[in-house]
Amino acid sequence: MKVALASDHGGFGLKEFVKGLLTNMGLNVLDFGTYSEDSVDYPEFAVKVVKAVLSGEAQRGILICGTGIGMSIVANRFPGIRAALCHDTYTAKMSRLHNDANVLVMGGRVLSKEEAGEIVRVWFEEEFEGGRHARRLGKILEIEKAICEGGDP
Ligand code: RB5
Repeated sequence: MKVALASDHGGFGLKEFVKGLLTNMGLNVLDFGTYSEDSVDYPEFAVKVVKAVLSGEAQRGILICGTGIGMSIVANRFPGIRAALCHDTYTAKMSRLHNDANVLVMGGRVLSKEEAGEIVRVWFEEEFEGGRHARRLGKILEIEKAICEGGDP
């Protein structure tokens, strides 16, 4: 599996840690930056990961900024992206089981490396349950379609 990974300066340290972790898990990492702690603008990096996931270049994405909030806001503007801001292993697990999240978002100034490592591990272990949750995702698709077509969601 290919994983698109990016952060801003607020998530840079954690991104480097997560990159090593993913590699050790046998995953193929596409690192879209940032590559230092110099200040950058998180929307630019969220878009790189989103594009990789939507194009099929990567099967999943991981975004990290200071809180995770900015990256989540940007990623979830794109139809087809289900970005989950996770603060613990429970939200990580449920974001896969119930939401079929394709992008994991974390806060580099919120989580320790140990906490983030557990979140990543759980997020890749769990699979979407489908069933009633698939019906709900279908409703999200309908909302996205209505918005894209200028209709009433
Ligand atoms: C950068 O200072 C910070 O605003 C950013 O990393 C993120 O937390 C935004 O949501």
